[in-house]
Amino acid sequence: MIQLTEVATLSVQDGIGLITLNNPPVNALGYSVRKGIADGIDQAVKDDQIKAIIIICEGRTFCAGADIREFGQPPKDPGLGDVLVVLDACPKPTIAAIHGTAFGGGLETALSCHFRVGVSTAQFGLPEVKLGLLPGAGGTQRLPRVVGPEKALTMIAIGNPIPAPEALEVGLIDEMIEGDLKEGALAFAKKVLAENRDLKKVSENNEKVEAARGKTEIFDNFRKSIARKTRGFDAPESCVKTVEAAVNMPFAEGLQTERDLFMELMSGSQSAAQRYVFFAERQVAKIPDIPKDTPQLDIKKVGIIGAGTMGGGIAMNFMNAGYRVTLVETQQDFLDRGLGVIKKNYDITASKGKMSADDVDQRMSLLTGTLSLEDLADVDMVIEAVYENMDLKKEIFGKLDGICKSDAILATNTSYLDVNEIAAQTKRPESVIGLHFFSPANVMRLLEIVRGEKTSKTVLATSLTIAKKIKKVPAVVGVCFGFAGNRMFSSRKREVDALLLEGAPADQIDRVIFDFGFPMGPFVLSDLIGLDLGWSEETSSSSSVRDILCESGRRGLKNGSGFYKYEAGSRIPIPDPEVTKMIADFAAKQGYEKREVSDDEIVQRCIYALINEGAKILEEGIAVRPSDLDIIWINGYGWPVYLGGPMFYADLIGLDKVLVTIKEFEAKFGEDWKPAALIEKLVSEGKGFKDLN
Ligand SMILES: NC(=O)c1ccc[n+]([C@@H]2O[C@H](COP(=O)([O-])OP(=O)(O)OC[C@H]3O[C@@H](n4cnc5c(N)ncnc54)[C@H](O)[C@@H]3O)[C@@H](O)[C@H]2O)c1
Repeated sequence: MIQLTEVATLSVQDGIGLITLNNPPVNALGYSVRKGIADGIDQAVKDDQIKAIIIICEGRTFCAGADIREFGQPPKDPGLGDVLVVLDACPKPTIAAIHGTAFGGGLETALSCHFRVGVSTAQFGLPEVKLGLLPGAGGTQRLPRVVGPEKALTMIAIGNPIPAPEALEVGLIDEMIEGDLKEGALAFAKKVLAENRDLKKVSENNEKVEAARGKTEIFDNFRKSIARKTRGFDAPESCVKTVEAAVNMPFAEGLQTERDLFMELMSGSQSAAQRYVFFAERQVAKIPDIPKDTPQLDIKKVGIIGAGTMGGGIAMNFMNAGYRVTLVETQQDFLDRGLGVIKKNYDITASKGKMSADDVDQRMSLLTGTLSLEDLADVDMVIEAVYENMDLKKEIFGKLDGICKSDAILATNTSYLDVNEIAAQTKRPESVIGLHFFSPANVMRLLEIVRGEKTSKTVLATSLTIAKKIKKVPAVVGVCFGFAGNRMFSSRKREVDALLLEGAPADQIDRVIFDFGFPMGPFVLSDLIGLDLGWSEETSSSSSVRDILCESGRRGLKNGSGFYKYEAGSRIPIPDPEVTKMIADFAAKQGYEKREVSDDEIVQRCIYALINEGAKILEEGIAVRPSDLDIIWINGYGWPVYLGGPMFYADLIGLDKVLVTIKEFEAKFGEDWKPAALIEKLVSEGKGFKDLN
């Protein structure tokens, strides 16, 4: 056996050379792995004893991609591209023997071999697009030659992996190995030699790409199919272009196109944002004073109070993760309605083929409904999701204190209320915490974990673990009105409402916010939710635009008229001159003078308000780090991932420039725009939010 590098060896068995890589944890393609492969091929080619070469990995997986430890470091030769040139040119049969995940550079390496075999549990993918990139080591040119352009498009431009059986079906692997991978790969190599199989290089295997030449509909249809999901993202379109190049150009030119588009993405702000978000999401659950070994509670059974919009969705999260759930309501008909909605949601999922009828039954069997709070005596954790009313919440927590086990976690899903005040109703404020889910609670990924003044470390650590178990992205925040997310949201709402009265039409504001990258603008959203949510006829006092719209019978999409009008059965908002006049009259009464508002001003007023409020939240210690606020906005409020979140965006624009504009707004619009001291400090030190992450 020859030691090629500290992580690679070459050995010979029955005339077959085995290049074995062992670079824990995931055999990432760092320098020693790359050099190991290149040297291994070189030596195996020279060795007359060796008739065929297998590349195989130790540990839990085949090469799972680039070595992130090398990110941001100067490149060290040989680069992966160079190694793959050596592999591609190998005159002896080469076979990649794959287990675990052959992702990114790992799959590109495998694609540079003549043959690929894999175990039945192996996964194959080119997920670079998810980081705003494309596979940059020939993957975009080789994969279409192996699996055809259609399959390659989905794998490269959407980035989801495929399992081994599918890989076999589409020709990505030549054989699926049952049993020991090494033995199977050796047997396969012997078969290749015995049958004297054709050793066509993948780079010269043009049959599938040539068959697609001139069929532009393949690309047109694919572009249409991903348009909605990828709106605003650069990388998917670049990925499509590389596959087009594979179809229409010789291999070498296609490689050059891949290289050019890769460099463009790599140096652009979108990929920087997406890579930042990737790391921010891993950082967010790390809380400085909560070490990994903080003692935790064992949570098996959960109680949820209130089977309304939020309670039902929250219950589903826990049932999906296998927890037993007791759902409490005040009246049988409310309970029946809540349980019915849960069942209906599961049935819809089942009707789409995403779960079986048995799965639905199994989930529903975990759920018990009750009208008695006393039934929460044996639960390990309670989440209260009743109306947003402090007195009601206080009353409930007072009762829970007498009912629940002494170490049960008592959580509230309040959106704005003071968690400390709620906790003070109990004799165990250390057990009380805010678990702020977002609507629809079974869909939205964000969970704001609100740490009260007295919340114990054990309760917080357990809540973080629970968040992971129910597949949420947790962000720990402190107590203040609206916590982090809604407090920032309120600052944007303040500006949106003001812009409307200053003369910006609702459809202009909506268009600008949508074009910025949010899923929809604020007024379309209001119409969708219903203008009368939280509004009451008795107390309405014509003191806001919402009041006057609701008072005139406009309730939003549901009755065909809100900020917009809607044709029967249509969800398409149509600007309504009647509403424009109502708003103009109201604004005039309030003393506003109508003016033209530019699109740029709308962006700055709405987005810089978030940034300034975010900075205040940070300086008050309500959030741990700027990137946590970005994670909150991406996962809870639809901020576009390719802009990294409001705090990342501030750095992207330049915090000094943002501050200048905030000061201009302060001069024009007053106190609301007082710059956060933190922004002034960072700018004076020549720093950005990134320096606080
Ligand atoms: N709707 C949202 O978008 C959203 C998002 C995040 C957080 N929240 C918060 O979640 C909480 C619930 O909001 P929602 O939208 O689900 O309200 P909802 O009106 O849809 O549901 C509240 C439910 O609580 C029940 N209830 C009231 N008092 C009760 C009691 N004493 N015991 C048991 N059940 C009782 C009601 O019958 C009702 O079914 C509020 O604090 C709200 O601020 C709401």
